[in-house]
Amino acid sequence: MRHMTRRALAAIALALCGALLAGCAAKPVTANPSALVVGFSQLGAESGWRIGNTASMEQAAKRWGFGLMLDNANQRQDKQIAAIRSFISYQVDVIVFSPIVETGWDNVLTEARNAGIPVIIMDRMIETDDDGLYTAYIGADFLAEGRRAGEFLVRKADALGAEHLNVVEITGTEESTPMRERQAGFMQAIDGDDRFTVIASVSGDFLRSKGEECMRSLLETYGAEGIDVIYSHNDEMTLGALDVLEAAGVKPGEDMVLISVDGQQEAVDALKAGRINCIVECTPDLGERVMAMVDALSKGEEVPKQNHPEETCFTEFDDLSDLAPRGY
Ligand code: AHR
Repeated sequence: MRHMTRRALAAIALALCGALLAGCAAKPVTANPSALVVGFSQLGAESGWRIGNTASMEQAAKRWGFGLMLDNANQRQDKQIAAIRSFISYQVDVIVFSPIVETGWDNVLTEARNAGIPVIIMDRMIETDDDGLYTAYIGADFLAEGRRAGEFLVRKADALGAEHLNVVEITGTEESTPMRERQAGFMQAIDGDDRFTVIASVSGDFLRSKGEECMRSLLETYGAEGIDVIYSHNDEMTLGALDVLEAAGVKPGEDMVLISVDGQQEAVDALKAGRINCIVECTPDLGERVMAMVDALSKGEEVPKQNHPEETCFTEFDDLSDLAPRGY
């Protein structure tokens, strides 16, 4: 993987990329021409989580002394594919990408494999029949996250002594791994418990603005009295929904149970203020793990295929006074 021609080419690319590649946001973070070069296709900047994740990658690359070619695809799969192709032609040492959706990656990953470049999939997963198309996955266990959300709801319903609760779900980007698995895990956890009816599931695309839109339309359809629980697949959408609820005179956290995912500071503050009842943690701090794996691969070491960070759940039942600042 590490031969001079490749590294020299990638180093030149690092320096010239901004000028040569339309739309390539590469940052020449190292002046060392013999440093490993990582091509990183980030899917966008849709959330505080995502911005924290990009920062984690940049900081870790710097700590390890690696060059990082970073491209932000602004929520477009075709831009991610183009970025990966540019990384292949620049012969980077390792490609890292966070796929916006699960399908449609086989061709470009076959090209990476043919070029002998290892691929680390970070954060979200892909769907493929050929596991040999990527070296490893580093990211959350989204199914477990969904289950934690459902388990909290069961606990909350017990605490309330509730007989029946109408649940609405605001989901993330359709056909993305966190959307699919957070939904499936949640349904698994409440399955067979007839206290719960999921009356609606709408897509908010992981965006605050769409969380607001979804909440407005849910209130129009069901009225505040028709909704007992909101399960939102990320904090941005939850924060958007909170604004709409409060403007409508609803007290989130009291009149309705709010369950969110991520754990960004603004949402944790809302949890501490009683406006959210539960946040399932999803950590964006994946950069260190990714760069440690890049280093291991450069030394020819075997790496585990599946790598999940440890994650927890922050709820109204916990003492959160010692919770460290989230950093994103
Ligand atoms: O893929 C992880 C999800 O993507 C995070 O939960 C969300 O905030 C982000 O946009």
